[in-house]
Amino acid sequence: MSGAPQHDAQKTFYLETFGCQMNAHDSEKVVGTLVQEGYRQVGTVEQADLVLYNTCSIRDKAEQKVFNRLSDYKKYKKQGKTFGVLGCVAQQEGEKIFERTPYVSLVCGSASYRNLPNMLIQIEAGNQRVTGLDDRKTDECFETEFTARTNPHRGYITIIEGCDKFCAYCVVPYTRGKERSRTSESVLAEAHQMADLGYTEIQLLGQNVNSYKDPEGKSGFPKNSKKTFAELLAAVGEVPGIRRVRFTTSHPRDFGRDIVDAIDAVPTLCDHVHLPVQSGSTRVLDAMQRLYNRDQYLERITWMRSAKREISITTDVIVGFPGETESDFAATLDLLDEVGYDAVFAFKYSPRPNTPSLSMEDAIPDAEKARRLEVLMSKQRDIQTTRYKKYIGTICEVMVEAKNEARSQLIGRTTHNKTLNFTAPEALQPGTYAPVRVTGSFPNSLLGELVI
Ligand code: 5AD
Ligand code: SF4
Repeated sequence: MSGAPQHDAQKTFYLETFGCQMNAHDSEKVVGTLVQEGYRQVGTVEQADLVLYNTCSIRDKAEQKVFNRLSDYKKYKKQGKTFGVLGCVAQQEGEKIFERTPYVSLVCGSASYRNLPNMLIQIEAGNQRVTGLDDRKTDECFETEFTARTNPHRGYITIIEGCDKFCAYCVVPYTRGKERSRTSESVLAEAHQMADLGYTEIQLLGQNVNSYKDPEGKSGFPKNSKKTFAELLAAVGEVPGIRRVRFTTSHPRDFGRDIVDAIDAVPTLCDHVHLPVQSGSTRVLDAMQRLYNRDQYLERITWMRSAKREISITTDVIVGFPGETESDFAATLDLLDEVGYDAVFAFKYSPRPNTPSLSMEDAIPDAEKARRLEVLMSKQRDIQTTRYKKYIGTICEVMVEAKNEARSQLIGRTTHNKTLNFTAPEALQPGTYAPVRVTGSFPNSLLGELVI
């Protein structure tokens, strides 16, 4: 990071973010970097000199949204505004973006964010074609002290960037580049800093946090203090002041039993694991190049089910992968029953540029994908209805997230990552922890009252 701000202090920027938590957190770091470089964040495109979109290309509609948004704002170019596209669509489409939307001056993938200060200098010098697209093979992470976190109680920390898994349907390895981990030393320093600032919940982020590999520390850091993911997780959970630690996303192939042992040993590690399965059919898992089969996945579920605390398990599923038969799909439905998930994020398969599955035969028609999605979600709704009912009568600790004025309720989140809306004699501030008695349940949330 360069030293004192070198740019015009009046320069303003607007940033809109699409996509996953990684993108949301990248944006917090991009905002921090821009502010450090003398820019001021504003809430509308109209007020901004520099308009940035941090984009997602995981599924088709995500990138379409970005192009629609960009064409909406074409008119502002005449007013001298500068436009930039960041993130996965930027990396995927590269310089083609300049052709499709000539009023864009900056195209930058996430692996190049560390060079943003330099790119800003080029933009300010009037360069109309600034790119950050060549860093996908870098070993460096986007480390900055200037993260502009939007939530004062729960904060993200990226521990690993990129992905080396190359699942057949996924753009991430192409858009976010190769895997690179931050040192545990640096992650823990950030966790301590956050605790000092009053954060009580930390969420560790990565496309595949389980393949975290602690790199050689900076000079003077003892070599034998390298940590595995489970050790890092436990160490973050032991930082004084931190009451909740979550992590996402896990990959079943790299999800070790030591993670469950860490959850057993460290009470601050939340009772929730998101373990994307994608399909319940070993044949489809093979075609997806997921590197595990149904039985291996279920073995990991057994580890979690035998933990000391009840761990809530959630997953991602793709329906209609090329060649997915009725019986493959039935195997996925059957898996939902067998595991008993507390939430399922289900998606219709979307063919993505550069990915191996793009050229696979036996595409499933969209109407059939839609039907399977509907069937799956309806089944999962029933499963959740039953699972959520079990909480009625129990007392759950929540962290208060917000107030729902219209309903005179507070919105809380349990360690199981469930939304628990509750009444209380007087409003509690966001960030407060409180015991709540569960009095009712829905398929996606719980209802309760404060225990006084
Ligand atoms: N089509 C549909 N869903 C996808 N996902 C990733 N790539 C695709 C794709 N091409 C889903 C996976 C992943 C989640 C983040 O998005 O389920 O776990
Ligand atoms: Fe994509 Fe697979 Fe990597 Fe997840 S593990 S980011 S699905 S390639």
